[in-house]
Amino acid sequence: MNTESKRKRKAQARPWVLVMALLVVGLAYSVVVPPSSSAETEMTQQIEEGKAIFDVSCSSCHGLNGEGLSAGPSLIGVGAASVDFQMGTGRMPAARGEAQIPAGEVVYSQEQIDAVSAYVASFGPGPAIPESSQYDPEGLNADEIARGGALFRANCSACHGIVGGGGAMPEGKHAPALGDTEDVHIYEAVRTGPQQMPTFSKDVLEDDDVRQIIGFLNTADEAPRYGGLGMGNHGPVSEGFWIFLLGIGGLSAIAAWIAKKGAGAR
Ligand code: HEC
Ligand code: HEC
Repeated sequence: MNTESKRKRKAQARPWVLVMALLVVGLAYSVVVPPSSSAETEMTQQIEEGKAIFDVSCSSCHGLNGEGLSAGPSLIGVGAASVDFQMGTGRMPAARGEAQIPAGEVVYSQEQIDAVSAYVASFGPGPAIPESSQYDPEGLNADEIARGGALFRANCSACHGIVGGGGAMPEGKHAPALGDTEDVHIYEAVRTGPQQMPTFSKDVLEDDDVRQIIGFLNTADEAPRYGGLGMGNHGPVSEGFWIFLLGIGGLSAIAAWIAKKGAGAR
């Protein structure tokens, strides 16, 4: 074979080499970068579902982009945890602006709450909804639960009472009883500080500290009542009420009895 025909053949082969190379690159690309991962599509779908709910139920008070209006604060940067707490305890959507929007009936499914949480989280970074390993007190020993009690008395009982029974706050507000609050919502309240409650960052209370507090609150719920009347466990107000009822009521009954007896003797 002379050099002339060799060169010819090489020239003929060139387009094929190019096509093969393109194919290889194309295949490699499709392997390395999947066209659009299904997780991503799910994510945007969830955010869109959240936006649909938000526009209808929340934007009238919080603004179409969560920027805040006179009827409700800005939600930029409050994070998914705050939304999960507010909706999960039935505080949001609020019926109307009040001094303290009460916990109430939960009107959305957890799936819908997750969607709105994801949408609000897209406004700006904030605390995420925690993993169960961050708040589930399962497996804590007695020492750790006792430590949770000490942490609760140091950080929370000034407002919520010694065992979480709740307490009054200035201006007619109150720190609620914590007996029925779900573990995840306790964690979220600690991290997002609803209303007058301070926000406790991880520098102040680590996840393990919060778990121990939750463990303590759960055992405080289960603790037997040691005799006497519970009086609703509402502290001095209800106790005062009972003293008033028995004390003043009893005195009036005795006074009435004496008056009647006196009238008979006359
Ligand atoms: C009637 C008005 C109103 C509506 C409707 C409403 N909110 Fe609110 N929202 C408020 C007010 C007022 C506050 C402040 C709460 C407080 O101080 O008790 C608040 C607080 C919040 C917070 C806490 C913000 C923070 O700083 O941590 C979140 C989160 C929230 N709302 C989410 C929602 C979502 C989600 C919806 C719709 C499902 C919604 N809200 C509907 C009025 C409203
Ligand atoms: C300065 C007073 C104050 C302190 C301290 C405080 N809280 Fe609160 N907490 C409040 C108030 C007020 C609310 C009600 C907020 C609302 O209604 O939006 C609240 C709400 C809560 C809730 C929501 C309960 C529900 O209704 O489901 C939880 C859980 C909670 N606090 C836990 C804690 C824990 C745990 C600590 C200590 C680490 C703590 N709080 C410290 C004032 C306080």
